Amino acid sequence: MSSPQNNNLNNVKSSASLDKALDQTLRPQKWDEYIGQEMIKNNLRILIQAASERKESIEHLLFYGPAGLGKTTLALLIAKELGAQIKTTSGPAIERVGDLASILTNLSPGDILFIDEVHRLNKTIEEVLYPAMESRSLDIIIGKGPSARSIQLELPPFTLIAATTRVAMLSSPLRSRFSGGTFRLEFYTNEEVKKIITRSAGILGMEISSDSAEEIAKRSRYTPRIANHFLKRCRDFAQVHGGSGIDLNFAKKALDLMEIDELGLNNHDRRILNILIEKFKGGPVGLQTLAAATSEDEATIEDVYEPFLLQLGFIERTPRGRIATENAYKHLGQSQIQKNLLL
Ligand code: ADE
Repeated sequence: MSSPQNNNLNNVKSSASLDKALDQTLRPQKWDEYIGQEMIKNNLRILIQAASERKESIEHLLFYGPAGLGKTTLALLIAKELGAQIKTTSGPAIERVGDLASILTNLSPGDILFIDEVHRLNKTIEEVLYPAMESRSLDIIIGKGPSARSIQLELPPFTLIAATTRVAMLSSPLRSRFSGGTFRLEFYTNEEVKKIITRSAGILGMEISSDSAEEIAKRSRYTPRIANHFLKRCRDFAQVHGGSGIDLNFAKKALDLMEIDELGLNNHDRRILNILIEKFKGGPVGLQTLAAATSEDEATIEDVYEPFLLQLGFIERTPRGRIATENAYKHLGQSQIQKNLLL
């Protein structure tokens, strides 16, 4: 057992808002607490140290990769490391040029502006962002018709950190303006996820055995956000069943109850694979057709389900569409939950 700070599970409440607050608590607060993504951390350390020594802002950065791998956490850590103020927004929240103008003109020198889901910025707004990133100049048009006039405002030195799950959706002029670098976050190894779970359990003050941390890690799709979510649900399960901590038996039962199989697939993943195999004889099938057949939208399939299924080698993307691989057939045949459903 890892050393618990407090193993009393009885006074733990569970609710969505408490969950969110807990997620904040579980975020690494210091650079050294951030597990994994070593290459990115090494590159960022150099950028940060060099810019700090020159007393300059770091150049603009773009983080991309599947959801839950820690893009926002990295941005927060960079701000902390630089002692900079960070303002956070997202692509869909910036609806009008005026929204962006107001955000940019309210920045102070050295601030970091974090834009999540940057692929959802509309084109007109992107065009205002280019000169702001390149030459710290805000060019806006005031008024309409013959009385319209264009004004230019100088912005303070700032760093834009943008994050996206869909880097291919960014226009190339936008992509090319991240002069500090574009970084792809990788899936974590099971060992790294296990370390994250053990760290989180310590913060939550709960006892967790090494084999149960390993079991949760194995089913967490190589993703810290999912691991922390499962950890909290295992804690709920153990509490309700009168446990003083999470052992392997509780972990397995809680994960089975959530219908998470031994590789981390949930019932949505299995359903998509099953439809691909049964309705379309394993493919190839186009994204649009697969989305219609599964009643999911295309973006959800591409952003939420596919990255992990591709990583597992259960599907392949070909020019003619998605194909289920031999391994997907084998897994669906072997999955315990699948067997139970067939019984
Ligand atoms: N929680 C979420 N992501 C993490 C990471 N990379 N390291 C430590 N704790 C985390």
